[in-house]
Amino acid sequence: MLALSAALLCGCARSDSARRDPLALTTATDLDPSADVVEIELVAEVASKEYLDGKDALVWGYRDAGRKGAKVTVPGPLIEAKVGDLLIVRVTNELPEPTTVHWHGIRLPALMDGTNMSQMPIPVGESFEYRFTVIDAGTFWYHPHVRADMQIENGLYAPLIVHAGLEPDVDVEADRYFVLDEVKLDADGTLTETMGTLDYMVGKQGNVRLVNGVNTESTVLSVKDGARERWRFVNAANGRFFNLSLPGHSFLVIGWDGGLIETPYTTQTLLVSPGERYEVIVELTKAENLALQTLYYDRGHDLPDPGPLDLLRLRFKGTAEAREPLPAAWGNIDPLPVDASTPSRSFVLSEVDDGGDGKPRFFINDEAWPFNVTIMGSLGQLEVWEIVNTAEMDHPFHLHGVFFQVLDVAGVPETRLGWKDTVVVPQSATVRFAVRFDEPGMWMYHCHILEHAELGMMGQIMVMDTMGAAAASL
Ligand code: C2O
Ligand code: CU
Ligand code: CU
Repeated sequence: MLALSAALLCGCARSDSARRDPLALTTATDLDPSADVVEIELVAEVASKEYLDGKDALVWGYRDAGRKGAKVTVPGPLIEAKVGDLLIVRVTNELPEPTTVHWHGIRLPALMDGTNMSQMPIPVGESFEYRFTVIDAGTFWYHPHVRADMQIENGLYAPLIVHAGLEPDVDVEADRYFVLDEVKLDADGTLTETMGTLDYMVGKQGNVRLVNGVNTESTVLSVKDGARERWRFVNAANGRFFNLSLPGHSFLVIGWDGGLIETPYTTQTLLVSPGERYEVIVELTKAENLALQTLYYDRGHDLPDPGPLDLLRLRFKGTAEAREPLPAAWGNIDPLPVDASTPSRSFVLSEVDDGGDGKPRFFINDEAWPFNVTIMGSLGQLEVWEIVNTAEMDHPFHLHGVFFQVLDVAGVPETRLGWKDTVVVPQSATVRFAVRFDEPGMWMYHCHILEHAELGMMGQIMVMDTMGAAAASL
């Protein structure tokens, strides 16, 4: 329990320093005094924000309505809970159009999943109460699931952390959550609605990158020499891939989408595609002009290499105390028992340059959402999903309602054991993963490049219980 309270203290310190630290996230106010209920009141509404100095942009965002005087923040309020908590989030829609809130990565009853398959979108001026128990520790996020390309680009996205009842004994200086994004701004600082062919083809191409909503021109993180920090990342961008590097340092990757992995591994660069989350430990060594950067990554369609782009400048003040060695045992994950008899399904991802209106179209098994046929699945049935990418670019494939275990990427076996809900399927390559649905109902799967999903690369599976009946809840 000690480690947990340390993590919570971290959260408090973060909100106390909110005024001084522009990278600090606003924490959503828990309106329920009981220890195992987190009750939050959110309003989605139009607000303004300065992405460029002195220039206001209209944004759409979430406001922590449980706190008097709170304003919309982008990203929205950080929700913190612990495994086993009942999470109640009332969302009031003050936007000019319907919306939903999807809890990306959270395993929950299908009716709480916040897609237009699981509920009627919340009409303008109305509210919806999401209510579910969180069962997995990890780094998650929430965002709309109707017109997501536009609504998320406008600022509707927010972090969510579920703490374990007992964290591994990682004695960290700081548990930080960095929400990465990229926006496309006009010269007057407003979000542009103009979409070029490339924006449709590879996802909206921004010109300004954001960390926790702050223009990376002015992101400065104060750290200590020798500090051991835990950094959680989510990529909330429509189309930008972040390929992270901290020169002179390596990342110890401890967690994926679905929480801690079994055995951490070290990497020099960390690719975070749209929708994915990673948790890393970094041991910082003082250096002049040290910055977390994103490096070029060949995601296809001959996108140019802009060179390294700075995301966070590290400023060193003081020296951290020495830390205990990192633990030897981390997550405990049972491999899904796939064998030759495990049924397999295939999903072929493809694209055409022009769907007749100058925009490309994207397909799964030659079908384009919303004109696709619902596929059927059975509760508790272990399956292998084979995602075959025939396109000339990577697609981050996301599945709702469940985590999966990657078996191989382009024929190379994945030896690391961990849970994912979003995986990069490289251009002209196949990814296979093992999955077993443990909640009945309608679950969506799609490319998390938001323009691709809206332009067809999305589908849904109806998971029925073993008796062959639809979920009682549906
Ligand atoms: Cu992050 Cu279907 O969503
Ligand atoms: Cu999702
Ligand atoms: Cu895609």
